[in-house]
Amino acid sequence: MALGVSDLLDKKLVFVTGKGGVGKSTVALSLGLAGAARGKRTIVCEIASQENASRVFKRAQVGFNEVELTPGLWGISIDPDESMREYLLLQLKVKAMGDLLMRSKLFLYLAQAAPGLKELVTIGKIWELTLPDRKVKGMEPYDLVIVDAPATGHGVGFLQTPRTFAEIARVGPIHNQASTLAAQITNHDETGVAIVALPEEMPVNESASLETQLIDDVGVAVDRLYMNALYPHLFSDTEAETLAGLRESAEGPTKAAITAAMSEHKRATVQHAQLERLKEMTRTPVTELPFIFKPQLDLGDFNELSELTI
Ligand SMILES: Nc1ncnc2c1ncn2[C@@H]1O[C@H](COP(=O)(O)OP(=O)(O)OP(=O)(O)O)[C@@H](O)[C@H]1O
Ligand SMILES: [Mg+2]
Repeated sequence: MALGVSDLLDKKLVFVTGKGGVGKSTVALSLGLAGAARGKRTIVCEIASQENASRVFKRAQVGFNEVELTPGLWGISIDPDESMREYLLLQLKVKAMGDLLMRSKLFLYLAQAAPGLKELVTIGKIWELTLPDRKVKGMEPYDLVIVDAPATGHGVGFLQTPRTFAEIARVGPIHNQASTLAAQITNHDETGVAIVALPEEMPVNESASLETQLIDDVGVAVDRLYMNALYPHLFSDTEAETLAGLRESAEGPTKAAITAAMSEHKRATVQHAQLERLKEMTRTPVTELPFIFKPQLDLGDFNELSELTI
């Protein structure tokens, strides 16, 4: 059964994923605003210091601290080194030891020896944010954690990390912790994934294969596809034909205006054909998001998009 529209926000943990530059950070922040608007204590996690939320909310830096961006919405920028330090502190419960280990560059050494360790500790920190009983002292629990996941380069690496580690380390604490994370990620009741796509041929193909890999190989619940940055369909095909006829006899600025309108129409037509392809190639409900004609989106634009993401 396809999930209903509000169900994405009913999850506890939502990963927003997709190729580079498709609008993942935009959708993640919009979903965060939508969650907060529904009265959920929500946090948006950026990874690898993109600091997108800092710009939109005009905060100096969100950083590794949980910062309230607007009532009900928090932000954090998850840094793997900080996550590792926190993890060691929580594990060892001796601050001096954690600091010593970090200073001795143990983490750098381990990170080189074990590819994926950075992703693992990052997911560990995300999981910590979802706990009803937070491990970090004094921190309040969240109802909803939205992750602005790293761009998918080759396949689904990030979300696959816990299972890979659980399989490599057959026994011991790493195995147990990686298994816990893998179980959380594949728990369809609590964790959801949203894929962001663009209305172009290659991004549509890539989003469809990403959906297959995420569902069939990683085993996560893909709840939504966002077709981002769609141009509006301003004319019907008949109107476009009439315009083409008018252009023949037009001159100067009128001719230029008609040419511009026709090229927008053509672009919208091509994009909507890609939207149809995406719907045919996938099994997940597709939500359309409009292209916003601005060089940089501001909070008002994000609020507008947030209404459309749900
Ligand atoms: N619907 C939209 N309308 C207009 N501009 C948009 C829209 N969605 C995203 N953008 C713009 O496109 C650019 C890329 O978007 P965004 O940063 O959200 O992508 P991303 O997938 O997070 O990229 P990266 O992989 O680099 O992290 C940004 O400048 C953003 O403001
Ligand atoms: Mg981004």
